[in-house]
Amino acid sequence: MEAQSMYDSFNRRINYLRISVTDRCNLRCRYCMPAEGVQLLSHDEILRFDEIMEVVDIAVARGVDKIRITGGEPLVRKGVVELIAMIAKLEGVKDLGMTTNGLLLEQYAVALKEAGLMRVNISMDTTDPDRYREITRIGDISLLFRGIKAAVSAGLTPVKLNCVIKKTPEEPDAQLVKRFAEDNGLQVRFIHEMNLETGYFRPVIGGDGGDCKKCNRLRLTSNGIIKPCLFSSDGFSVRELGAAIALEKALRAKPKSGGVNSRDEFYNLGG
Ligand code: 5AD
Ligand code: SF4
Repeated sequence: MEAQSMYDSFNRRINYLRISVTDRCNLRCRYCMPAEGVQLLSHDEILRFDEIMEVVDIAVARGVDKIRITGGEPLVRKGVVELIAMIAKLEGVKDLGMTTNGLLLEQYAVALKEAGLMRVNISMDTTDPDRYREITRIGDISLLFRGIKAAVSAGLTPVKLNCVIKKTPEEPDAQLVKRFAEDNGLQVRFIHEMNLETGYFRPVIGGDGGDCKKCNRLRLTSNGIIKPCLFSSDGFSVRELGAAIALEKALRAKPKSGGVNSRDEFYNLGG
């Protein structure tokens, strides 16, 4: 069956679904989480894989051909490799990626590739071990370096580095990441630190997020809310409405451009 195309009210074609598979994370990045961690969702609140697949099946039938797995940190979700394998089997999926902090990639890169994951975006805000520890509060950067190597050797390419900046790519940490990317043949994308509550966001430098005119995405949170926009408090529960209606309502609710989101946090939205 030929896949359909799905358009929002502003005639943007929506072909990209980001799926957050967990709100948990093995880091505590300062711009994302408070030091003490966060009130986590309970096991029962988190969508099971069959529930996620129901959304994916419908989305792909409606014309989604690009899927990204996010978190929290997606690799801390038990069984995530099997989920990837299920999604990768779908014929309509042309691009299947993951956004990860990379710390567990040394362990999982080969299995992810074999399951059908195509590529990874890895968060790297600095290359300096002390600064990394400061930013992530608990991270050991040697795991990140090893994770990046593992992703490249496994062929999860192109590997892109996501670097969060405060103001400009000229900041010292960002320059370190830029050099690291050049030295290792990797792409880097600079993401302005955003604020959901004030609605502060800027287009991703070197990527395509944050440009409302070109927005092509919907998001599924780990507790089953389909979000029309990162910068919107709107959301539609697949458990309450059923996957098809939740998807349709989210599509209809996509705003022309982002506003504020007083309901969510980055760790449940997946960036
Ligand atoms: N601003 C910009 N990006 C953020 N992320 C988390 N919090 C923020 C924020 N406040 C990003 C991380 C990672 C992805 C999961 O979300 O850098 O790339
Ligand atoms: Fe974890 Fe990513 Fe949030 Fe850092 S930004 S705490 S790696 S979810």
